[in-house]
Amino acid sequence: MSPSSPGPLPSGPFVSPSPFVHFGPGTLGAALRVVPAGEVAAFRASWDDLPPDTHLDADRPYRFRRYGSFRVHGRRLERLPHAAFFQHGTGRLFAPLTGSVAEGAVLRALVLALRERLPGPGEGIDTCGVHQIRVTATADTEGHPAPEGVHRDGHAYVAQVLIHRQDVRGAESRLHAPGDGVADGARVLHRTTLSAPLETIILDDRRVLHDVSPLRPAPGAARGSRDMLLVDFFPAAGPHSGDSFTPITRT
Ligand SMILES: [Fe+2]
Repeated sequence: MSPSSPGPLPSGPFVSPSPFVHFGPGTLGAALRVVPAGEVAAFRASWDDLPPDTHLDADRPYRFRRYGSFRVHGRRLERLPHAAFFQHGTGRLFAPLTGSVAEGAVLRALVLALRERLPGPGEGIDTCGVHQIRVTATADTEGHPAPEGVHRDGHAYVAQVLIHRQDVRGAESRLHAPGDGVADGARVLHRTTLSAPLETIILDDRRVLHDVSPLRPAPGAARGSRDMLLVDFFPAAGPHSGDSFTPITRT
């Protein structure tokens, strides 16, 4: 296994027949019932404190984010030293998660609940990357949650959790069966627009490609925004990296 590989595709009778799961807000909502409501509200409000993504090639910043990574020890998260996030052969240093988010009960509850619902084996999947991302749109500038188009992230599993969407239209999430490339007919396996806070998709990044359509302000709104929590799961022995994958961009 390459040190930059997320690992071979799991095989055997325990592989989920579906390479993804999509569930409503009740699942993670139940996981958060043990957390004081004030902490949940503060966690959601932390998306108001994300700095612009300086790696985005755009005239006006429309993406804001923080990042952190953790080792999962049973029911405990160990925060790892802040480091660049590698994807598609490029390292990008994002602003770190704040201490209250990284060490809080909300993130721990969400990560553990997501890890219990992976669409495949979780053995050895002991590390995760956590992204807080806000994408905004104005009448002049649409927001691009996935500017690279149809792609893999280069992990074992990726959880996409809607935190909040406000005055937005668009941002349809799509999962594609890998084929010979999108232009050669990769199939859309699933399409949905995450609408309810805590509605979630978890995908097996080795078995599907994904993208998200651009977003625009809702009719009558000057500005819209979409807040997401993304959690990448991968084995510590094969650090997260997109190096082994080539992004496939819609043409
Ligand atoms: Fe992605």
